[in-house]
Amino acid sequence: MTASPVVLGIESSCDETGVGLVRDGRLLGDAVATSMDEHARFGGVVPEIAARAHVHAVAPAVRAALDAAGLRRADIGAVAVTTGPGLSSALQVGVAAAKGFAFALDVPLYGVHHLAGHVAADTLEHGPLPNPCVVLIVSGGHTSLLLVRDLALDRIVHLGDTLDDAAGECFDKVARVFGLPYPGGPAIDRVARDGDPRAVAFPRALSGPRDDPYAFSFSGLKSAAARWAERTRAGGDPLPVADGAASLQEAVADVLTRKAVAACVEHDVRTLVVVGGVAANSRVRSLAQERCAAAGITLRVPPLRLCTDNGAMIAAVGDLLIKAGVAPAPLEMSIDASAPLEYASLQPVAGPSPAALAAAQGA
Ligand SMILES: Nc1ncnc2c1ncn2[C@@H]1O[C@H](COP(=O)(O)OP(=O)(O)OP(=O)(O)O)[C@@H](O)[C@H]1O
Ligand SMILES: [Mg+2]
Repeated sequence: MTASPVVLGIESSCDETGVGLVRDGRLLGDAVATSMDEHARFGGVVPEIAARAHVHAVAPAVRAALDAAGLRRADIGAVAVTTGPGLSSALQVGVAAAKGFAFALDVPLYGVHHLAGHVAADTLEHGPLPNPCVVLIVSGGHTSLLLVRDLALDRIVHLGDTLDDAAGECFDKVARVFGLPYPGGPAIDRVARDGDPRAVAFPRALSGPRDDPYAFSFSGLKSAAARWAERTRAGGDPLPVADGAASLQEAVADVLTRKAVAACVEHDVRTLVVVGGVAANSRVRSLAQERCAAAGITLRVPPLRLCTDNGAMIAAVGDLLIKAGVAPAPLEMSIDASAPLEYASLQPVAGPSPAALAAAQGA
């Protein structure tokens, strides 16, 4: 049996330039550079600033990951890169870099769906995913409850998605209204420690007996939090931010974990995996643990640093695709900024195919 290749993973879908090196499900070394501070004064990610920062950061990040792993460029046996979803200009930088490495090293290239990367992050800490498992993805742009079989090969089944805002987006936007710094999720988590989660009765959307049991909605919660802040300030009182943050966090954690555990029970699945940036939230983690234990479900959550965007998770998907025998992508592979999550492998090709071009030239 031939040894598995070292997979270089590159992630550039938003404001993190992530690079990771994975072989056989094991993380060998990684590096993450972020342009977060450059966006802070705008209150959100500015695509052109992010793209420019990726250009500066990607080659040094590859070098740093190789150094951390004690490897050389020639040790890289395959390249995996996020091709979507994300910011177009930011994705383009990672894809161009990945193509450059794959071409120069003469190794196969794989296009990866960013959210499949978030799912695979957990395998680097806890080993292969059981088949099947229920996965709750809670990130800055997505909130989905999934039934995952073989992550590398099978179509991912969406049990439910958010109808409007993502959970992370809700944290980020409410944090802004509360006057907390960007990014809002970690700030809410921090100040919530000193607050009372029962202080404000924020709504739990789509939780009634006639509602879709696995769909989410966070825009009503966002508005309710903004109205509460407005009302309290109008009354002349200082805003009890800690109580507001703790109550908001409780509402989000309650809905997420209740629906995720219900999905496991209904589908007779014994493992719940919670991934994405919001999986770093302390209350989401503790309530998920409590409710999974009560229902006899094993909970898996990646370590904090693998919850938010990183390159190791993309390398982890590449490693799984290679093991499953999935065909590499052609070098004319492009990005798909709004790709729906269907398969882990995402290899869109822009423009006419090489066959169509050859036919056109022959005509
Ligand atoms: N401790 C925390 N509590 C709550 N939210 C958090 C915490 N840490 C990070 N987040 C949130 O996680 C989100 C970032 O996560 P992630 O990097 O997975 O999202 P993204 O890459 O921006 O979005 P997507 O993966 O959907 O494209 C932000 O909304 C951030 O506020
Ligand atoms: Mg992400």
